[in-house]
Amino acid sequence: MRHLMSPMDFSVSELEDLMDLAYDIEMNPSKYAHACEGKKLATCFYEPSTRTRLSFEAAMLNLGGNVLGFQSADSSSAAKGESVSDTIRVISSYADICAMRHPKEGAPLVASSRSLIPVINAGDGGHQHPTQTLTDLYTIRALRGSIKELTIGLCGDLKFGRTVHSLINALVRYPNIKFVLISPDELKVPSYIREDVLEKNNIPYVEVERLEDAMPELDILYMTRVQRERFFNEEDYLRMKDFYILDKAKMEIAKKDMMVLHPLPRVNEISVEVDDDPRAMYFKQAQNGVYVRMALILTLLEVSVC
Ligand code: NCD
Repeated sequence: MRHLMSPMDFSVSELEDLMDLAYDIEMNPSKYAHACEGKKLATCFYEPSTRTRLSFEAAMLNLGGNVLGFQSADSSSAAKGESVSDTIRVISSYADICAMRHPKEGAPLVASSRSLIPVINAGDGGHQHPTQTLTDLYTIRALRGSIKELTIGLCGDLKFGRTVHSLINALVRYPNIKFVLISPDELKVPSYIREDVLEKNNIPYVEVERLEDAMPELDILYMTRVQRERFFNEEDYLRMKDFYILDKAKMEIAKKDMMVLHPLPRVNEISVEVDDDPRAMYFKQAQNGVYVRMALILTLLEVSVC
């Protein structure tokens, strides 16, 4: 039985297979409409979510399966003090697969060690968000044809942003990827990512503060929200929250084929005027999340469709 805790749990060739499957699903959805009939997905969300939870649910429903679950710690027995280990033991007898989001780093990993069904990390604190990364990789591959020879700017809250941590982890395995890490000093990428992931793999990167300075050389700009819920005090958040605002004027200095991604939700960091720019890909990216999650469910449940 396999779980998904980090994008590193899949080799590059397994990721390729998964993306090929997601592409076939996107092109031929009816072929997969009954693939998971009689199967159930449990969504155990101890932290708020719109896209991740609903795209998991849509994915299972599109496969002909059913969904059950809870949307907040308050509405589960966590509020009574139950551990994730006990919760997953019980859910293992109610469902065939589980997607879990938790504010504590490592909670889905603890759950997976006790689980009798595959567990998918749907975001654990400021740590990892592997299914967002699968979505990001799929979107890059779909728009660029392949994942190689790219200068990728990651902008915003690189300290607490788990989507950024997962994406860097995954991308260092692809050829000739260069990173431009754009953040204020206080929100720089954690040292374990810099040292153990980037430097260890000899990946070229620079850290800059001004988005304008980075813009002209980027092939992809990955914007992120300042992660309010992970700040220790509100004042720091308020000081940081509007540090970057991508607007039309900044888009003018970007390459004509630069692609703007964002895991969403957006707060202020991308002005709505950018939405009509053909380079704004974040809504398509959110749509792609359903295809990759369908492919992931099929892969972990070992369901094949001929
Ligand atoms: C992200 C997350 O939860 O980390 N959202 C998502 O799943 N698409 C990004 C965020 O909340 O900023």
